[in-house]
Amino acid sequence: MNNKMEKVISLAKQRGYVFQSSEIYGSLKSAYDYGPLGVELKRNLMNEWWRSMVHEREDVIGIDASIIMHPKVWNASGHLSGFSDPLVDCLISKERFRADKAPTPTSGDELPIICNDKGQAKQYQKSIEKRFGIEIRRNGKVLEGLRVIDDSTFGYFEKDSDDANQTFPYRGYVSPTFGSPFLSDERQFNLMFRSQLGPVDSIGDLTSFIEKNPDLKGKELRKGIEKVIKDTAVYLRPETAQAMFVQFLNCQQSMSMKVPFGIAQMGKSFRNEITTEHFIFRSCEFEQMEMEFFVEPGTQKKWLDYWRDKRLNWWKSFANNPDKFIYRAHDKDELAHYADACYDIEYEYPWGFDELEGVASRTDYDLKKHAEHSGAKLSYFDPQKQDPQTGKNGWRYTPFVIEPAAGATRGLLVYLLDAYHEETVQDAKGNDSIRKVMKIHPKLAPIKTAILPLVKKEGLPEIARDIVSNFFKAGINTKYDEQHAIGKRYRRHDEAGTPFCLTIDGQTKEDGTITIRDRDTMKQDRIPAEKALEVVKTRLGVV
Ligand code: GAP
Repeated sequence: MNNKMEKVISLAKQRGYVFQSSEIYGSLKSAYDYGPLGVELKRNLMNEWWRSMVHEREDVIGIDASIIMHPKVWNASGHLSGFSDPLVDCLISKERFRADKAPTPTSGDELPIICNDKGQAKQYQKSIEKRFGIEIRRNGKVLEGLRVIDDSTFGYFEKDSDDANQTFPYRGYVSPTFGSPFLSDERQFNLMFRSQLGPVDSIGDLTSFIEKNPDLKGKELRKGIEKVIKDTAVYLRPETAQAMFVQFLNCQQSMSMKVPFGIAQMGKSFRNEITTEHFIFRSCEFEQMEMEFFVEPGTQKKWLDYWRDKRLNWWKSFANNPDKFIYRAHDKDELAHYADACYDIEYEYPWGFDELEGVASRTDYDLKKHAEHSGAKLSYFDPQKQDPQTGKNGWRYTPFVIEPAAGATRGLLVYLLDAYHEETVQDAKGNDSIRKVMKIHPKLAPIKTAILPLVKKEGLPEIARDIVSNFFKAGINTKYDEQHAIGKRYRRHDEAGTPFCLTIDGQTKEDGTITIRDRDTMKQDRIPAEKALEVVKTRLGVV
């Protein structure tokens, strides 16, 4: 693992940001607990998102929907088809499809790979050469020379040749969009976590079904079992987005919203990820911050650019190194089938640039799908606009959607990495030592101020506790800390990312002043104790 990543993971545990789940039982793979500092950092991050997306806007409203929704939601959204059907990945185009619905060329049939354009054909040609060692012929946007030999083999044939240069295992079908025979094994993808609603244990029903049907095997047995559990099966949401489509009408009507407007939600999502990786970057339980912004058809490009810039700048605004945040447009072959454009906001992690947030132009796909499956009229009527088809006043349409979808827990990792800083300083004896400091933006910092009596006597703790109580009343997260020598306490709070340490010392009793130490510069100023709250508020930017 990368050195910086190791250091951040180690500090995260030591200082109480993130712990491995159920550690005393040997840990649960890819599950994490947010400790005393982590929970504060995560909440501050999510509250800042809510503030900028909901509280500071007239055109966005928020919801907090159930994690378990009606199972038909996942049918309409397409998530369920990937749940119970065998899926296959095309190794070249990355298209994922149902094996039982794919075209099935037979012995002697040519297998042309038909791309969208020449550029894509060249790209796939290169991938095939790299992965399978054949220089496949290209004719414009078509890759040629592949042919089915028998039920289990296909080959690559030079022009006018009957002898295959090279052969490969054939699965009996090709990918539906491009016709590619370069495929992964069939896999049952359980993307969503399934549970049963109701107190009756479905294992009892399953047992009696199997006892009554002892002859059923393989696919038939699976189908039967699925039927038994279908009526009570529910799923943990794999994204927060769908509730915002499903509650589109209730939200729009209850708040009299006019298009363009957005619905925002943040909270837990669950995915049985095939690979979990890089600490909390990809885990099975995580938190998202998503907003569905409903716009008039035809205006989606303008709004996509608007939200891309807005979201990128938001991430940069809390960062020490804003240059590490970029956006990247999706290539055509990367786009989800329902999207007409998409940007990823990426961060330069220790392993390279990777996704932090997606900003997608999802067309009218989701509202139309939910309208089709539920029978509800998920459309919007604008009395001020002319219907482009009839030319008459008043236009009813299905809004298009721009979706900025961010990971909150992934964002927390990003800001831990951004904050981690080491520098050489001299200790009290004049020796060089490494100071680790988490330069977390003051608005996100878990603890805003530490109040430190220099010694535990001479009335200093009492003065310190009076100051603490003022800060508590003002709603500023403050910690009283009298453990260990003052230098050690400063270092502890450097690692906790506490922006300011206030120290009460002998001089406080003489002239009523205390010191305020800045985490990043270590500079100390003397200020009147009675002005401490005002000074900290100004430095935090909350007044
Ligand atoms: N509604 C669209 C949607 O969910 P996504 O790209 O799958 O899109 C959005 O997810 C964001 O959620 C990602 O950019 C990422 O930050 C976060 N995310 C997705 N899967 C995750 C996982 N397994 N662990 C942590 N964060 C994840």
